[in-house]
Amino acid sequence: MSIVFLNDRYMPMEEAKISPMDRGFLFGDGIYEVIPSYDGELVGFAPHIDRMNQGLELIGIDFKWDVNKWREVCEALIEKNGSGNLGIYLHVSRGADSKRFHAYPSDVTPTVYAYAFEIPAANVPDKSKAKAYKVATTEDLRWQRCNIKSTALLGNVMHFQHGHAQGYNETILYNANNEMTEGSACNAYIVKDGVVITPPLDNQILPGITRLMLLDILAKHTDIKVEERVVTMDEVLAADEVWLTSSSKEIAPVIEVDGKPVGSGEIGDVWLAAQTAYTANKTEY
Ligand code: PDD
Repeated sequence: MSIVFLNDRYMPMEEAKISPMDRGFLFGDGIYEVIPSYDGELVGFAPHIDRMNQGLELIGIDFKWDVNKWREVCEALIEKNGSGNLGIYLHVSRGADSKRFHAYPSDVTPTVYAYAFEIPAANVPDKSKAKAYKVATTEDLRWQRCNIKSTALLGNVMHFQHGHAQGYNETILYNANNEMTEGSACNAYIVKDGVVITPPLDNQILPGITRLMLLDILAKHTDIKVEERVVTMDEVLAADEVWLTSSSKEIAPVIEVDGKPVGSGEIGDVWLAAQTAYTANKTEY
């Protein structure tokens, strides 16, 4: 049985009920996070909470818990649901109004929901054990505030489905200038001549916490060079390696884009070095 947290109470998931007038339900008006936890240890907890607070501020939801309160909820969910490999989902919506009206209401209480779900085991830095991803590509038709981790994910869902329906693991997106933005639920990277290249943070992509940690770890613990700059789709097709990152995937090596092999068509050496450094240092965050 899955025990979830809803508005200050723990309960079986079946008993968790929210109002159909909740603006999260009607408008996707909310912010969420997914924090990975391996054997009871949360990874990137503080930056995840920081990003959620920034998101809430950006959409004008006046809600800020002390970071220790969030930690308490995460740890209780881990304890109540068995500490394996878990994603801790945190969600704050603007709350339930008495009517459906677009403007932000001033007198509603935000709805807070959190639950734990199973995620894959942490990656092992071993090419023979890694899951090799095959991805589709499509034009990024989401909104212009993709830096906000909004619960309104229909654009992401439709883009993910585009790849999924064709048997691919993910979909890499590009803008109207043929520049890579990110994946439908992850950040994206290429490797060329030993250099890791990823698009800069702006309104087109989510500032991923795995991205933040990975770039910091590569700078502090390896000699691998990183460039944050525009990446064209021509560069993606000519890359030696392509990677995706997210809280549940860590660093995912991509071996095929739109049916064509990436580089040699096998998991690359730079991925191995990066995942080795990430595995060794991720619990520092
Ligand atoms: N997805 N970009 C998008 C659009 C995402 O949805 C995600 C995460 C990321 C990577 O962010 P992070 O490293 O902080 O997980 C980038 C989550 C896991 C999800 O929606 O399930």
